Amino acid sequence: MAKIIAGIGSSHVPAIGAALDNNKTEEPYWKRVFSGFVKSQQWMRDTKPDVAIVVYNDHASAFSVEMIPTFALGCAAEFPPADEGWGPRPVPVVKGHPELASHIAQSVILDEFDLTICNKMEVDHGLTVPLNLLCGKLNPDQEWPFKVIPLAVNVVMYPPPTGHRCYMLGKALRKAVESYPEDLKVVIFGTGGLSHQISGPRAGLINSKWDKAFLDNLSKDPIKLTKIPHLEYMREAGAEGIEMVMWLIMRGALGDKVDEVYRFYTVPASNTAVGHIILSSKSAAGKSRHSAGGKIKRAAARAKIHRVRS
Ligand code: DHB
Ligand code: FE
Repeated sequence: MAKIIAGIGSSHVPAIGAALDNNKTEEPYWKRVFSGFVKSQQWMRDTKPDVAIVVYNDHASAFSVEMIPTFALGCAAEFPPADEGWGPRPVPVVKGHPELASHIAQSVILDEFDLTICNKMEVDHGLTVPLNLLCGKLNPDQEWPFKVIPLAVNVVMYPPPTGHRCYMLGKALRKAVESYPEDLKVVIFGTGGLSHQISGPRAGLINSKWDKAFLDNLSKDPIKLTKIPHLEYMREAGAEGIEMVMWLIMRGALGDKVDEVYRFYTVPASNTAVGHIILSSKSAAGKSRHSAGGKIKRAAARAKIHRVRS
């Protein structure tokens, strides 16, 4: 049986991709950002997932503003990097898992979530930047270490789905994955955020207090997060802070109780607060199903390291 063993929350700021592609990761500004993912990359290598479901948003790359699906599932065998204005990023083509993706589509649609099915799709920084953060820099002739099922969510044009809808979709995804007969280790990414606003009079808005409370509740009280209205995201986390509803799909897919394995938060990257969390699913007995990587230290803003739990 396939299992969702962990969830990964990660910002997907495009400038992080540009820093990698232009070899700027050792510059102090970028080192601060990338330092928060060193332990996560080790955790990934130890955990060795077979498949990652990556919940992200397309930024008018694969879908123009003429066609905006609320939830779109990538069922193709591969997903090339999109040209976002500077040519496609020099990263490997993302390999899909059409069999599991089709199974998920059937299960979730019969559970009354009307997904759009994409049999051909390019993927932008929303998906490739988190893959880089968790897997490191890879050249186009290399391969990502796991198969990827993209799940694109509309958070670019009003109305996006509610946090509650996202959380419930996460639960339906868990049910779908757990009814797939092959033994597969699956992780799920929630990407985007944290607080940021790219344009308008409040451009540059960051709200660290709100972001940190969101991360706290992601582990402890996700139901509380499902009640946050769109207007609160906009007011507190900026116009683009609405991307954070995608983290609730990831959280919904993990079951009620989780272990917080790792957390990182730093400000800024570009004009954005960067957040990252790893949560592992707990079995009914209350133990983590997979302790691969074990508990690792939590890194806080500006490389201050704290222990989460001993
Ligand atoms: C920016 C764009 C994003 O999609 C995002 O999630 C964060 C920042 C930017 O243009 O800086
Ligand atoms: Fe974004």
